[in-house]
Amino acid sequence: MTDVHLWLRHEVRGTERRTPIVPRDARRLVESGAVLTVEESPQRIFPVAEYEAAGCRVAPAGSWVSAPRDAVVVGLKELPDEPAGLTHRHVFFGHAYKRQPGAADLLRRFAAGGGRLYDLEYLVDDTGRRLTAFGFWAGYLGAALTVLRHRGRLAAPLTPTTRDELDQALRPAAGDAEFTALVTGALGRSGRGARTAFTVAGVEPTAWDLAETGNLDRRALLGHDVMVNAVLATSPVPPFLRERDLDDPARRLRTLCDVTCDVGSPLNVLPVYDRTTDWDEPARRLREDPPLDLIAIDNLPSLLPEESSTDFSAALLPLLLEFGVGGPWGRCLDRFHQACRELGVEPREA
Ligand SMILES: NC(=O)c1ccc[n+]([C@@H]2O[C@H](COP(=O)([O-])OP(=O)(O)OC[C@H]3O[C@@H](n4cnc5c(N)ncnc54)[C@H](O)[C@@H]3O)[C@@H](O)[C@H]2O)c1
Repeated sequence: MTDVHLWLRHEVRGTERRTPIVPRDARRLVESGAVLTVEESPQRIFPVAEYEAAGCRVAPAGSWVSAPRDAVVVGLKELPDEPAGLTHRHVFFGHAYKRQPGAADLLRRFAAGGGRLYDLEYLVDDTGRRLTAFGFWAGYLGAALTVLRHRGRLAAPLTPTTRDELDQALRPAAGDAEFTALVTGALGRSGRGARTAFTVAGVEPTAWDLAETGNLDRRALLGHDVMVNAVLATSPVPPFLRERDLDDPARRLRTLCDVTCDVGSPLNVLPVYDRTTDWDEPARRLREDPPLDLIAIDNLPSLLPEESSTDFSAALLPLLLEFGVGGPWGRCLDRFHQACRELGVEPREA
């Protein structure tokens, strides 16, 4: 096992209630020899007392900046803007390897401090498959919100909830009209989540993955009442929908949910809208007559913080137990160095 010092940080984004390590897995880490320091965090879905009871040390929010140099700082989303130089090894979603806004600044901060980024998005097995992801619950929520909207029961603004509460709202009520649903990317994590939620709602969706979209039947697509797109596109393909398809008089489609949210990207399979929707306004009308509503929320799993944290943590735990030992962590570090080279940033010796 490991003698690593892990430091679970508070998330700076106020709406982020998820955590990459839940108390049950914190206990496993401590029992196997790791030191785990957990920062206090008012919005984290699990109270810090549960971590303390699991044998973790407790530290104030944001105190990772003065953590021992060898501590590995673990989080999910963005770091605060300070300090300018990052000296630690950090595990989180950096969103910094595809030239996103702020990408170069983040990598320069690592270069300035001699720290390293182990980006959770690039923690992959030897076939390149991601080992930790929130996809299932993203798809689940995407389909759940679609069903609620279609049945006229989607209340805004959205707030974080639990699966029990959500499922209660999802189950069909007397008088609910039947409808047909399509899931694209149906065999992936999000696709499975979407299919599961539709089943809870009493709908058996049509499931399309690569085999069914190679020779795309747009007429069949438009013949469904609702659609949830959950593909992970890695190379450009013809769009599933174009502007003119929305005006096709044969369109039955009334509610479209894009879990993928590749808006603006050359890989976008749904180039029929130009901005995502959000918790305040989850659905936007794209066409009036007949109506077509769009749901395209890019932080869906945050709406089920406990379930999504628990699944994510379960996938991360075995990797943390082997932190730094070759394999996935090695590939992750290689990817960091590659990103630095691509941006002309030279990381200092660790
Ligand atoms: N909106 C959110 O909050 C949120 C959260 C997590 C993930 N996502 C996004 O959801 C998408 C899916 O993630 P995932 O974890 O389920 O990925 P995944 O790799 O598990 O599954 C993707 C699926 O898409 C299929 N696919 C790829 N190209 C296709 C095509 N042209 N036609 C049909 N199927 C195709 C693949 O075969 C695979 O089954 C990603 O783009 C991810 O970034 C969004």
